[in-house]
This record gives sequence, C-alpha cells and structure tokens, in this order.
Amino acid sequence: MRIDIISAVPELLTGPLDHSIVGRARKSEKVNIVVHDLRTYSTDKHGKVDDYPFGGGAGLVMTPQPVFDCIDSLKEERQYDAIIFPTPDAPVLDQIMVNKLTLLENIIILCGHYKGIDQRIRDELVTMEVSIGDFVLSGGELPAMILVDGIVRLLPGVIGDAESALDDSFQDGLLSAPVYTRPADFRGLGIPGVLTSGNHERIRMWREEKALERTREVRPDLYRNFINKK
Ligand code: ADE
Repeated sequence: MRIDIISAVPELLTGPLDHSIVGRARKSEKVNIVVHDLRTYSTDKHGKVDDYPFGGGAGLVMTPQPVFDCIDSLKEERQYDAIIFPTPDAPVLDQIMVNKLTLLENIIILCGHYKGIDQRIRDELVTMEVSIGDFVLSGGELPAMILVDGIVRLLPGVIGDAESALDDSFQDGLLSAPVYTRPADFRGLGIPGVLTSGNHERIRMWREEKALERTREVRPDLYRNFINKK
C-alpha cells in the first residue's frame, strides 16, 4: 500500500511515522508513506498556502492552488483509490472504516490547517471525509497519524502475531478483556486464577464474559448493537 500525506506542517508527522510499528512497517517496505510539504507547491513567492475567508470571519482558509497542483502531480504518477480529508464535520471513524481502508492500493491524506480548506478542494478532489471524534483539533496532522496507524498495523505481515489484530477491541464489536503479564503477584496484587489454569476453553469463556461486562459498563451503545445483532 502507498499513502501520500499532504501537509503544510510536515514536521508534525516525523515522529509518529518513523518509530514503532509504523516505522518498522516502512523500513520493511510493507507500506510506502510519502510526505509532501504543501508549501513547496505554492506559486506564491513566500510559499503562502492560506488566505482570508470571503465574507469575513476569523481564521485563515487553505487556498486551492497548492492543493490542486500537488494532487494533480500525484495523479499524473498513479491512480488513487481515495483522497481522504480529516475534518471534524464528517462521519466519525470506526474500526469498520479502518478495515475497509486497508484494502486500498493508493491513498492520499490531505491535512487541513487554519480555519479550514477552500470548499472547492472538498468538492472537486476529496473523495472521503472522516472525523476522529466530536472535538476540534488545530489541524489534520494528528488525525492523519491516527488513520495511518490504524491502517498500517492491519496490513499483512506488520504485526507479528497474526491473531493479535483480530483480538483488538472493536474487531467483533466489543471492547477487549483485561490482560495481565508477569509477575503473577505484584505488590500483593494477584491475577485471575483462570489465566494460569492452562484450560484454553475456560480462558476463552472468561475473556468473552469480561469483554461483555466491560462493554456493557463503559459503552452501552456498543453493547446494545452487539446484543441486537446476535
Ligand atoms: N481536524 C480538526 N479536528 C479534527 C477531528 N476531530 N477529526 C478529524 N480532523 C480534524
């Protein structure tokens, strides 16, 4: 999979893309992530990528020219399956959407900044808009990193233990059961005995019960969906 990320503040992206699971997936060429500095596409001599909103109002709006030029030049090289714009005024991202995105070959993520981006970019270029939650951040870079992390960890060969991604919270519509590691006694705090019983069926049933319990307590909305689907 290839992911092109367009940003006016590419410095914000370096840490998350270079380390841990995403960093390793890039090094082992399981994913090709290319960051484009939007300012280098601006025809303005100072590299300006934003301007005042028509009709007045606070904040600056990202201008169409650098974005259109950048995306035009990418499209000359290859076809894109999706051009994604993270924005709070969009459907909220969930695991089902992330799973679907992992099936795509080439995607662009366009990070907005300032007050927003010129609507013509959204109308003409963007094919998918996603919010990472009902709150507002100062730009699309962190949401873009959340999208990338969610996608890349599911790509074939990225997570060593093939099972572990399937066990994630949300993959079956429920939150995960609690997990424990060594030592079995830490400051007098023990672990549920079933986990050291060696009885895999009992462990599976315990995890299922805990997942249901946790989901019912903290996400009654998910719990209701799960029960209704059964
Ligand atoms: N940009 C700013 N806030 C955002 C949010 N909540 N989701 C996606 N993109 C955003």
